[in-house]
Amino acid sequence: MPQIPNSTLFEPFMLGDLPLKNRIVMAPLTRSRSSDAGVPPDFAATYYAQRATAGLIVSEATNISAQARGYALTPGIWSPEQVEAWQRVTRAVRAQDGRMVLQLWHTGRISHPSLHDGALPVAPSAIKPSGQAFTNSGLQDHVTPRALETDEIPAIVADYRHAAQCAKDAGFDGVEIHSANNYLLEQFVRDSTNRRTDRYGGALENRLRFPLEVVAAVTEVWGGGARVGIRISPGTTAPGDTPLDSDPMGTFNAYLDALSAFGLMYIHDIEGVTQMSRDSNGIDYPALRRRFSGAYIANNNYGRDLAEQTLADGNADLISFGRPFIANPDLVDRLRTGAPLAEAPKQYWYGGDATGYSDWPAMQGQIRLAA
Ligand SMILES: Cc1cc2nc3c(=O)[nH]c(=O)nc-3n(C[C@H](O)[C@H](O)[C@H](O)COP(=O)(O)O)c2cc1C
Repeated sequence: MPQIPNSTLFEPFMLGDLPLKNRIVMAPLTRSRSSDAGVPPDFAATYYAQRATAGLIVSEATNISAQARGYALTPGIWSPEQVEAWQRVTRAVRAQDGRMVLQLWHTGRISHPSLHDGALPVAPSAIKPSGQAFTNSGLQDHVTPRALETDEIPAIVADYRHAAQCAKDAGFDGVEIHSANNYLLEQFVRDSTNRRTDRYGGALENRLRFPLEVVAAVTEVWGGGARVGIRISPGTTAPGDTPLDSDPMGTFNAYLDALSAFGLMYIHDIEGVTQMSRDSNGIDYPALRRRFSGAYIANNNYGRDLAEQTLADGNADLISFGRPFIANPDLVDRLRTGAPLAEAPKQYWYGGDATGYSDWPAMQGQIRLAA
């Protein structure tokens, strides 16, 4: 495969004080193989360790509390059993000289009453999302959520603080706050999903208040921003390509200015519409990158050539790959050598056991086991 001059994709990188083997990041991938109690299975340790040749692994989105759940069989990070299971994962990844952060998740309105003993999901405002929720009894239509009372919000910030501490106890190298894909934090940020009239809604400063309270709590637990990243998706649109807020660049400029003040480790930016297109839809990604003080992880539909070109152009520090990591545990080697990539049938993406999860062979046909 022709090399792009000055390629740095496979070169080491210092992410703050965290030395990475290369500039390849495994993007977070929900795989829905945890128990109903949100405990990841033993074979999750094998799965992540097999992918530890990535410079950095971001875990699948992990619920900060029972209230945060929006999909069946997703893991949590609030109970001792969950922390113990994640410790097995971080030990296995570290044994392969890997680095891993945990993605902290609250789904907000993207949920379903059947995941909450019949209670309504919570959101900034009572606005029903389109689409369906993945529940224990299959896909079910989303419902109109319940708008959070102002005095309920501190308890959710406290849940983030507790989850951030549990992630530390579980041995992660850091955490990534999930503020993308229209889950709870982004629901507060965007003016189409936040119609509140209290101090958490209305003016942009108010819409950013809750996400920034969460960032403050999480960075406090981690002793500053150096081990805390955040995921954003400024280009996400509602079905029909309707922007989710009236001024996405203005919103994200202000958000990034405020985030920079925390000295965060990185922003993990989904460029375009997740998995669908890289159309910029009016978002100036290089400008957002320049606006932010920490490192920039670029994501969405990257292949090797675009990854190398983006690094060569100075438009990212790291590139994350999601879907390609599902069936290619040795993705780093395959990208380096130009070997063909395996494709995972969608039936294996969500739910099931170790099949289609931790049994994908490396190029030479072996299935590498965790130490
Ligand atoms: C099966 C699957 C699960 C995903 N789970 C998450 C998740 O837990 N958290 C998240 O932020 N993004 C999630 N994503 C989005 C990916 O991280 C990534 O942004 C997207 O797949 C685009 O990158 P790619 O083109 O390299 O796959 C998921 C995507 C897929 C295909």
